[in-house]
Amino acid sequence: MTLKIGLLGLGTVGSGVYEIINQKKGCYFSNTEEDIMISKVLVKDALKSRTLKIPPEILVTDFQEILNDEEIQIIICVMGGMEPEYTYMLQAMEKGKHVITANKAVVSEHMDVLFKTSKKNNVNFLFEASVGGGIPIITTLQQVLKINQITEIKGILNGTTNYILTKMSQEGLEFEDTLKKAQQLGFAEADPSADIDGFDVSRKLSILSSLAFGYHIKENTIYKRGIREVTKLDMDYIDQMGYVLKYLAHAILKDGTYYQTVEPIILSKNHMISNVNEEFNLISITGNIIGELQFYGKGAGKNATANAVVGDLLYIINNHFVPQEILLNHPLQNGNISTFNGR
Ligand code: NAP
Ligand code: HSE
Repeated sequence: MTLKIGLLGLGTVGSGVYEIINQKKGCYFSNTEEDIMISKVLVKDALKSRTLKIPPEILVTDFQEILNDEEIQIIICVMGGMEPEYTYMLQAMEKGKHVITANKAVVSEHMDVLFKTSKKNNVNFLFEASVGGGIPIITTLQQVLKINQITEIKGILNGTTNYILTKMSQEGLEFEDTLKKAQQLGFAEADPSADIDGFDVSRKLSILSSLAFGYHIKENTIYKRGIREVTKLDMDYIDQMGYVLKYLAHAILKDGTYYQTVEPIILSKNHMISNVNEEFNLISITGNIIGELQFYGKGAGKNATANAVVGDLLYIINNHFVPQEILLNHPLQNGNISTFNGR
């Protein structure tokens, strides 16, 4: 039997997903009984010239063609932005289709409604690719949460800004030049302000800490400072003093209050985080029983992100758990928890 999938978006991530599935990259076909096929792809401009080889007849510009296709059971949402993608996700689940996304903006802002909609319609809503690129942090966090109370999350959660700071520090490049390179490499958001002004990191921290602390913590409650004002002169000075500038996300739960910050921090050169370079991310989570765990890997880019999306697809095909159960049934849900917005 062939399982048909609708893909929304054919940019950096969408083309990576298409290649893994349609060109049968990877070894997952040997683990599943079903054949998998992307039967329709939603794009903004169907006539745009693309390097990816794709049959033009499967490109559509009207979401209804995918929504009303009874044969499509799973929809992968990798368009970006808030709307219309959020509405499409809800409509898909209401129609009984499973949804997978890499869109952290939508997950961070609307996770409560999305989780409830998926539960109501008995479909999966999976979003592993929304945080940490190829690092399987959402799945791992849920495993850790089965036993632990998470007390702290910290690390580098944005590939673009880490790439910029690495290149400025190690190669003496200017901010604007490194940002352009990150865009060319497919790491940056469509509007790179999301990366350099801290919204992207805050959204990722919001997703992780909401799952960890059992309370929907919105991105706009997180204290953030961007890196757009960092100059080559700053980097040279920091380097001469024996330090490195890194863009850190940090969340702590202490005595019923969570503290969350996203800001550039100066670290000594021998600090572990100082050695996380280019588009790599490092995510540290601390549980009351297991202690600190650290995860390292490519946090942005086509293959790493597409790998996470296809991983979610395999969870659905193999009938695994639904992550939203953790948030909906978290022991701290509705408990006494308050936010401290700042340091
Ligand atoms: P992208 O390269 O800008 O691609 C966006 C795709 O969506 C394009 O194919 C575009 O169509 C299509 N699209 C956009 N708006 C549309 C609309 N209104 N209707 C129909 N199609 C529309 O974006 P991306 O980098 O792949 O990112 C996609 C999502 O993944 C975002 O939510 C992003 O935050 C997330 N993400 C990205 C990365 C990464 O490393 N890039 C990593 C993790 C998560 P056209 O091709 O016709 O223009
Ligand atoms: N723009 C994001 C980043 C993509 O650079 O980390 C991965 O989420």
